[in-house]
Amino acid sequence: MRKRRGRRPSRLAAIVAGVAIAVVVVLAWRHYLAPPAATVSRGPTIGGPISLVDQDGKPVTGADFRGHFVLVYFGYTFCPDVCPTSLSTMADAIDLLGEDGKKVIPVFITVDPERDTPEQLKMYVSHFHPRMVGLTGTLEQVKAAAKAYRVYFAKVHEDGADADDYVMDHTSIIYLMGPDGTFRAHFSYDAGPEAIAKRIREFL
Ligand code: NI
Repeated sequence: MRKRRGRRPSRLAAIVAGVAIAVVVVLAWRHYLAPPAATVSRGPTIGGPISLVDQDGKPVTGADFRGHFVLVYFGYTFCPDVCPTSLSTMADAIDLLGEDGKKVIPVFITVDPERDTPEQLKMYVSHFHPRMVGLTGTLEQVKAAAKAYRVYFAKVHEDGADADDYVMDHTSIIYLMGPDGTFRAHFSYDAGPEAIAKRIREFL
């Protein structure tokens, strides 16, 4: 009996020690190996205050879009292929959402404010979607917006070409921003409208 009594506490101690070690291992794994869940879902810091002018010449800030999801794409109206493809994809994705599509505003921000005046944008965006918003501004305003969205752009001018004969190099990413103006998801310009609509639905 004495022996048994003596073994019991030691077995209990072994169990306690085992549980303690397991807890420490799990905590250490979560701390050092697994990234905290909050960091994963927050994603990169994309977006921020913008101050631009829409296709009707009306000043626009991010506050004008609060309460709506926004699909944002930076490009320029003279773009030969990638921009039209991206904007068609955005428009198709919104139409695929049916009635829910009304919760999403498609926004096109030019990286070529020199040529993309409000008038030029108005003509252009209406080809893609009746609710598409076209934004332009001064070069400084456009630069600030591009920086907020981590979009790169640069004017590429061929030697000997006319001053207004140039193309714009630019990042081609479609961003989905939430009703609170924060980043939700991004899509490559060649993501299909079905894939984008499906992803948006997950947030609605
Ligand atoms: Ni383009």
